Amino acid sequence: MGGMASGEAVAAAWATLRGLPHATLKDLFAADPARHEALTRRIAWPIEPGSAAQAGMLIDFAKTHLSDQALTAFEALTEAAGFAAAREALFGGGIVNPTEGRAATHGALRGSGTPAQVEEAEALLARMGMLVEAIHEGALGEVKHCIAIGIGGSALGPALAIDALTRDLALVDVHVVSNIDGLALEQAFAACDPETTLIAVASKTFTTIETMTNAASALKWLADNGVEDPGGRVVALTAAPDKAVEWGVDETRVLPFPESVGGRYSLFSSIGFPVALAIGMDEFRAMLAGAKAVDDHFRSEEGRANAPLLAAFCDQYYTRLRGCQTRAVFAYDERLALLPDYLQQLEMESNGKSVTAEGKPVDGPTAAVTWGGVGTDGQHAVFQLLHQGTHLIPVDFIASIAPGDDLDPAHHRILLMNCLAQGAALMAGKTSDDPARAYSGDRPSTTFLLDDCDAAALGALIAFHEQRTFANAVLMGINPFDQFGVELGKAIAKQIESGEGDFDPSTKALMAAAGLG
Ligand code: F6P
Repeated sequence: MGGMASGEAVAAAWATLRGLPHATLKDLFAADPARHEALTRRIAWPIEPGSAAQAGMLIDFAKTHLSDQALTAFEALTEAAGFAAAREALFGGGIVNPTEGRAATHGALRGSGTPAQVEEAEALLARMGMLVEAIHEGALGEVKHCIAIGIGGSALGPALAIDALTRDLALVDVHVVSNIDGLALEQAFAACDPETTLIAVASKTFTTIETMTNAASALKWLADNGVEDPGGRVVALTAAPDKAVEWGVDETRVLPFPESVGGRYSLFSSIGFPVALAIGMDEFRAMLAGAKAVDDHFRSEEGRANAPLLAAFCDQYYTRLRGCQTRAVFAYDERLALLPDYLQQLEMESNGKSVTAEGKPVDGPTAAVTWGGVGTDGQHAVFQLLHQGTHLIPVDFIASIAPGDDLDPAHHRILLMNCLAQGAALMAGKTSDDPARAYSGDRPSTTFLLDDCDAAALGALIAFHEQRTFANAVLMGINPFDQFGVELGKAIAKQIESGEGDFDPSTKALMAAAGLG
């Protein structure tokens, strides 16, 4: 990871942590009534470039079980794990992805990196901006719709950002299509007019079978519907520009990004092109500015003052010391409905590992299963288990103080009331003579309150979770930037396609039943 971890000091810090008593939330508040102030962080950014006025988000960790002793022990672990050096390596272009011998330069996309990386990223962004503006001005003819084809990191970020930020206005109507199931593409076709549709093919490698198959079908759809030059309606977003050109995309419409930007960390690269097309470059840059504010905080604050690191302390505490296997994220805002999906890939593909960066078995559980949804819907569906089930599940609540709707303010008030009520109820619980009506309480949550759910706040939320994921990886000694676990299934799918493979009896029977092989 580029850090300088000391094995013995790490083991000693974990031994201290394991030896700490588990105080209840009630006891922690009783011992320190100012706990809320001590455990609330605010990250802010200018409301517009150069403005002194700020917007931001506050994060309240007070309803987690982190005691002062635990925080001190986690700070010792941070030091023992070589966090400062690893963070320096991350932003300094060091090899933080040792299994692939790469740096991880997503920070540079928003100005947090070495001067050379930032300069390169700015040049690529300027190029993307020119194409976006040219398209808005009609350089490719009338463009009303865009079908953005990609999968995983080449789709989840754009889908989230477009859903969050185009509720009031979209300069271009974007449909993100990821699944190879043709139904997904057919649904986009039904919503678009081929004459005015642009196809954006987003793939870091430009080899992913789902994306390349969908892209070919989208081109065929244009041709079948009388579009004269379907190839002229394609933009490629990729770290493999040669492959895109080979596939037939004109060089002028290939927007590259550096190989050192990982797929699930790529929203701020040219993978964000469909987002920029929909919201405009000024708003796209506002998203970058929000992300940069988090980077600045993450780079300059130490220990418990550092909010993403503090979030990682919570994650480590619950997975490693309390045996929690999942973490729930509930957005009390329709605009963030896709955030749990986005975070699932970010956290589970990054830190769902069983070996350390040195290839040794890990000495404890790694990433929790991230899951969630929107409030208040979740309250009427799955919160029963959060309140009375046998699993201990830390919950992140995310809400915006400013409403996204123009209806009676009662809507937003009821939404926020419920969000805060859930955190309070999980913590307080309720005694009852009737066991079925009793709530154990002492269930943890963290609350994120955004001033508004705009482009900057979304950028900040995403960067916050990227840095939280990195901090978790450093504390566990694992490499968050590779994903070899996705390869075996892909290889076996190819074997099934060719029929050449040593398949187990169950798979053989299923292949026969499905007419494959
Ligand atoms: O299979 C996993 C994965 O490699 C992800 O890490 C990535 O975001 C996704 O596939 C898409 O890859 P690409 O952008 O190269 O098409």
